[in-house]
Amino acid sequence: MTDIVVSENVVGAPMDSLQREFDVRFDPDLWKSPDKLAAAVARAKALVVRNQTQVTADLIRVAENLQIIARAGAGLNNVDVEAASAAGIVVAYTPDENSVSVAELTVGLMLALARRISAADRDTRSGGWARRGFTGSELMDKTLGLVGLGRIGTLTAARARAFGMTIIAHDDFIDPRSPAVRELEARLVPLDDLLAEADFVTCHVPLTETTRGMFDYARFAKMKPGAMFVNTSRGEVVDEEGLIRALQEEKIGGAALDVRGTEPPGPSPLSEMDGVILTPHIAAFTEEAQHRVVASVCRDVAAVLRGDPAVGYANFPSPRRPPSAIK
Ligand code: MLT
Repeated sequence: MTDIVVSENVVGAPMDSLQREFDVRFDPDLWKSPDKLAAAVARAKALVVRNQTQVTADLIRVAENLQIIARAGAGLNNVDVEAASAAGIVVAYTPDENSVSVAELTVGLMLALARRISAADRDTRSGGWARRGFTGSELMDKTLGLVGLGRIGTLTAARARAFGMTIIAHDDFIDPRSPAVRELEARLVPLDDLLAEADFVTCHVPLTETTRGMFDYARFAKMKPGAMFVNTSRGEVVDEEGLIRALQEEKIGGAALDVRGTEPPGPSPLSEMDGVILTPHIAAFTEEAQHRVVASVCRDVAAVLRGDPAVGYANFPSPRRPPSAIK
């Protein structure tokens, strides 16, 4: 009987050890077929996912033996944590393991936008040498507006400070007197003020019903003319039609999107726009972050299946399913 179902591409040495100890069904395309996924998890004890597998209440209902759902990543928007908790299933995830990589990509995208690196690269490859045409701007003395000052927002702000940027942030859940705010010399401001003041707006919020579509045309239109927008959080927080219109009307100067509403995305006018940088949800994809992420989920899956507590849990460390419920 399969102990562990891995429905996305979670690989590396810790996964190899897990496969030596347990019976693992590794099928990185399984997330694409909800019916096959349901059949696969019906008797499994553990399910390992990234962000594509939709772990819904219906799936949880059929997974009668499941003890742990392990999400290799920070966002839990594809896992119904409430349904899993009600069923007594541990939900483990990796809230910290890829934060540095995401913050570094965010700063990389800011630099790439400010210096038009992608467009200059394309032009040079096609025989151009348009030095003046690619005159950019510095980050120094510019204002960075962070929407969300959690782990990734804070790490991004610390790196931006090293470039001499002024930090403002909007976050409904942060105490303005917190040490992080003091150390960053950040000013917490209402969202409209942030949009009006920032030269770069970066987004670091989780996907919730409140944040879904929060960056719409009206919000982009409030940004400082020429300001740049970077999203490395969740694609669904941006209304792409609104962003396209704001770019076409030059309400903003450019945008970099690592995440999209639909992944992979279909054809979009964004792909044709010069001031736009698009990357395929790679913020967490560094050797270092992936090593930490895979090690963390494999450790927690092995622990729970051996009867030990998980470390990176989102709800509780050990399953709360009565043994009589396990078939
Ligand atoms: C995360 O949530 O950790 C990253 O966005 C990567 C992912 O979704 O797998």
